[in-house]
Amino acid sequence: MIKVLNNIFVLEGKNIQYAFGPYKGLLRHIYFGNKADEKDFEHFEIRDISSNDSSCDIAWEEYTPWGGLRYKEPAVKVRFSDGTRDLVLEYDGFAIEEDVLRIMLKDKFYPIAIFLNYKIYEEYDIIARWVDIKNLGEEDIFIEKAYSCEINIDGTGYNITNVLGHWVGEGRRFKQRLDGGKLILESRKGNTGHNNNPYFILDIDANEDKGEVYFGALEYTGNFKILVEATPYYYTRLLMGLNDFDFEYKLKPSEALILPKAYIGYTDKGYSDMSHRLHRFVRDIILPVDLRNSLRPVLFNSWEATLFNVKCDEQIELARKAKDIGCELFVVDDGWFGERYSDSAGLGDWKVNRHKFPNGLEELIHEVNGLGMDFGLWIEPEMVNPDSELYRQHPDWVYRFNNRELTTSRNQLVLNLSLNEVKEYIFNVLDGLLTNYNIKYIKWDMNRPFSEAGALNLDIKEQKMIWFLHSKAVFDLIERLREKHNGIEIEACASGGGRMDFGVLNYFDEFWTSDNTDALDRLFIQESVSYIYPAKTMRCWVTDCPNFINGRTIPLEFRFHVAMMGSLGIGGNINKWTKEEIELAKEKIKQYKEIRHIVQKGDLFRIKSILKDEIHAIQYVYQGESVVFVFKLYEKFGRKQYKVKLKGLNDDKIYEVKYSDKIVRKGGAYLKNVGLELILDGDFSSQLIRLKEI
Ligand code: DGJ
Repeated sequence: MIKVLNNIFVLEGKNIQYAFGPYKGLLRHIYFGNKADEKDFEHFEIRDISSNDSSCDIAWEEYTPWGGLRYKEPAVKVRFSDGTRDLVLEYDGFAIEEDVLRIMLKDKFYPIAIFLNYKIYEEYDIIARWVDIKNLGEEDIFIEKAYSCEINIDGTGYNITNVLGHWVGEGRRFKQRLDGGKLILESRKGNTGHNNNPYFILDIDANEDKGEVYFGALEYTGNFKILVEATPYYYTRLLMGLNDFDFEYKLKPSEALILPKAYIGYTDKGYSDMSHRLHRFVRDIILPVDLRNSLRPVLFNSWEATLFNVKCDEQIELARKAKDIGCELFVVDDGWFGERYSDSAGLGDWKVNRHKFPNGLEELIHEVNGLGMDFGLWIEPEMVNPDSELYRQHPDWVYRFNNRELTTSRNQLVLNLSLNEVKEYIFNVLDGLLTNYNIKYIKWDMNRPFSEAGALNLDIKEQKMIWFLHSKAVFDLIERLREKHNGIEIEACASGGGRMDFGVLNYFDEFWTSDNTDALDRLFIQESVSYIYPAKTMRCWVTDCPNFINGRTIPLEFRFHVAMMGSLGIGGNINKWTKEEIELAKEKIKQYKEIRHIVQKGDLFRIKSILKDEIHAIQYVYQGESVVFVFKLYEKFGRKQYKVKLKGLNDDKIYEVKYSDKIVRKGGAYLKNVGLELILDGDFSSQLIRLKEI
């Protein structure tokens, strides 16, 4: 609900409120938190300190322009065509259009309008914020910096949580207290990358079950920036949006720049509640409509099994085994096209390799479909190997300087998506594949960040917009494909989890969480990802041991249990699995199909974490049903007995609990307060507990 009282705007969700309004020439933030009586809201007077301490820096501004006596990080900075670099924004009214509160700010002199947009999703207690900037004049305006949202909260010393990741290390979460100064989380790589992720969690002393948490995520994939500033004036500011690094947008007369959406929330019930709100929101609002409500199929992916050495006969054999163990989708990863025998050639030549598939892809697809499975294919559309037909024909189709050596990474170059002919080429390739073959699933990969973004061969005048426009071009392509080919499932991948964000989840159905498929590392990675992203969006495979990353060997059941905590896939060479392994796989996949609605649609509780506990336990609760996965890594001092107290159950209901080969009936209050006694015997032992309300 949006309320307007005495020039104060109040956005109200089920539990939260957000209040701000114009006061004495500034648009001032008032409050973000649990509900109060809106009639009580008022503006606080700014406490002047001295002539050295600007009142604008002391004020909690809703969207800080650069200009005047402001030294804090501005939310927006522009340059007018006469060279003036200064904004004096004045409140110029509001409108409520289709549940969106639009606040209009105008410069006192120059013809620019900045609209701050707010939409509250009441059920979810999440606020969408975005900004559009319009040129009302006849000269160009240059936008040098423009964030999607600014947040002001009382006090300093907040803990900021994010990741400090890298390839196969996506889950390296850190928490850093900010008592003063600034902290920046960002990407400069063109994609979101593995290093930081475009979300924030701010809290003072929250834990899973209690404590105040401010959180948010950016609906953008690409160069993002989150800047948190602990000000000297006893409050913390946060800005989130497009990275201002190498950024400039030329806003032509009458043109509007619409910035990506930021979603923000608040809870006083700790991290679990934060995750529940975000997960429900992603599942119900962010994900593409087509497959939003369907469950993700159990897939087989060929990558770790056969790498580039994809051969029709062997894939058919894998497909038969995949069907036998219960897979529903068979995905051929890298290696099916062009002269692709390693990562050094073939990217860009999206024609079936006839040595590997003498009768075309049809033979395999026919077999896969005949077995009753859907077929999926890997592609990396934004890239090209210099050793490819495509590159030989179109050396000018990559971001390049003509007077410097090209910078390859994984032997590949980035296609110049500012060029229409490149976008058309990619569209036609994908459209052709989806039209000519019965493909139900695409894994869209991107295995290197940008370079040569400062090149001159862009088909745009605003060179520094290439970062923004490349991501937009990817999404436009996906939108066009979805319009023509309904119901295709599309997985985002960027060397594992380099494209995990709300922007991607608005167009893709899921992401590949990490190339790290070692079940132990995965516990860290998946736990970290689960803070923000729902299990349904995380693809998780069971692969072979010793694991290719670290040589570690972990029992198959443990590996299954870890992968069953997301959208399950099989990525091992099942042609080589023993009879016992195949039997276990059948049992586990059957079990997963019985519980996947709970995992994929349920609320997730991080009960125990290997980051601090001896065991790791994750629980999912969905409409009277629940599953708990419990893991022990290694046996310490002969201890085998552990207590697991459950969460999210109804105190007054009785549950049938299946675990450790027994079935018991217990009340919700008992399970919560007393808990279950589990025997976890030996290193890498794991258990699955199933509960149903009766
Ligand atoms: C990186 C991905 O993360 C892998 O799963 C696989 O698809 C390879 N690329 C293929 O080159």
